[in-house]
Amino acid sequence: MIKARSLTKIYGTTTAIAGLTFDLEAGEVLGFLGPNGAGKTTTMRILTCYIQPTEGQAEVAGFDVATQSAEVRRRIGYLPEGVPLYHDMTVRAYLKFMAAAKGYGRALRNEYVQNAMEQTGITNVAGRLIGHLSKGYRQRVGLAQAILGDPKVLILDEPTIGLDPAQVHEIRELIKQMAHKRTVILSTHILPEVSMTCTRVIIINRGRIVAQGTPEKLTSELQSEGMTRVVAKGPINDMRVKLDALPGVTGVYVKSKPDGNVAEFEIKSRRGADVRSAVASAIVGSGWELLELHSEGMTLEEIFLKVIASEKEVQEYAA
Ligand SMILES: Nc1ncnc2c1ncn2[C@@H]1O[C@H](COP(=O)(O)OP(=O)(O)O)[C@@H](O)[C@H]1O
Ligand SMILES: [Mg+2]
Repeated sequence: MIKARSLTKIYGTTTAIAGLTFDLEAGEVLGFLGPNGAGKTTTMRILTCYIQPTEGQAEVAGFDVATQSAEVRRRIGYLPEGVPLYHDMTVRAYLKFMAAAKGYGRALRNEYVQNAMEQTGITNVAGRLIGHLSKGYRQRVGLAQAILGDPKVLILDEPTIGLDPAQVHEIRELIKQMAHKRTVILSTHILPEVSMTCTRVIIINRGRIVAQGTPEKLTSELQSEGMTRVVAKGPINDMRVKLDALPGVTGVYVKSKPDGNVAEFEIKSRRGADVRSAVASAIVGSGWELLELHSEGMTLEEIFLKVIASEKEVQEYAA
C-alpha cells in the first residue's frame, strides 16, 4: 500500500531524511518512532504530497507521490503535527469547510461530515466553537477531518502529543478503531504507544532507519543481553573463571579454538551492564595479556535508549 525508496530530503545544509526505504502492506499500522528532528514529519509530508523529496520515490496505493499527487491525496487522510484548527469555527462548519477543500460536492459533504463525527464521537459538540473544546476533543476534530471521505490510508503525526493520560487513552482507542480496515502510519516518541497500537515499528534517528520489525520482535530484541568479545593471552581456564565472576557477567564462552595460550572469549552480560573496563582490568591486573576487546554492535535497546536520550536532551533544551 505504501512504498518508499531511498527517500531523501535536504534543506540547505540540513539532511532531514537520508535514504529511507520501507514498505507497508494494506491493513498494517506502522509506528514511526524517533526523537525530535529525526525526520518523522518530513517523511509524512512527502507521503502526503506537501513537499517533494530531494531524491528517491514513494508510492501510495500504486500512485507516485511526485507525479500523481491528486490520486494520492484522494486516498490519504492526514493529521498534521499540531493540527491547525480554526478556533472560531464550530466543529460542523470546520469539517464542512475541510470537506469542501478536499473537493467533495455539497451532497457528499454532509454525509461525510456526519460519518466522520460519528466515528470520532463528536456529534454532541457539532455546534460548539473549536476554541472552546478540550485538547482531547480538538484532537478528535482533527481525526474527524482526516477520515472525511473514508480514505484507506491515514497518516497521523504525533496524534497524542500534548494530551493528558486520560485523553491519550481515548485517542489511542479511537485510532485503533480507525485503523480497522485501513493502512496507518503514526509517528510517536513513546515506545509503549507503539506496542499498544502498531503492527510494525520503524525507529528513525537523524533521518535514518536504525531499527524495524514487529513490536514483538523489537521487544524481544530489546531484552537481549549484551555481548563483549575478548582475545587474551594467559591460562585459558583461569581467565574464564575470572571473567565469569565479574559483576554483570552472565556467561563466558571460549569461542575460537584455543591456540596455545591465546583464546577468544564471548562474554554475555546483563542488559545495561557495560563490562568492558572490568574485563580489561581483570585481565591486565592478573598479569595476562589483553589482545582485543570490543562490544558487539549495538543492541536494539542501546539504540532505542540512545534515541530516547537524545530526545530528552532536545526536550530539556527546549524547555
Ligand atoms: N522547512 C524546513 N527547513 C529547514 N529544515 C527543516 C525544515 N523542516 C524540517 N527541517 C529539519 O529537518 C530535520 C527533521 O525534521 P522533522 O522531519 O520535523 O523531524 P521530526 O518530525 O522527527 O521531529 C530537523 O533537523 C529539522 O530542523
Ligand atoms: Mg515532527
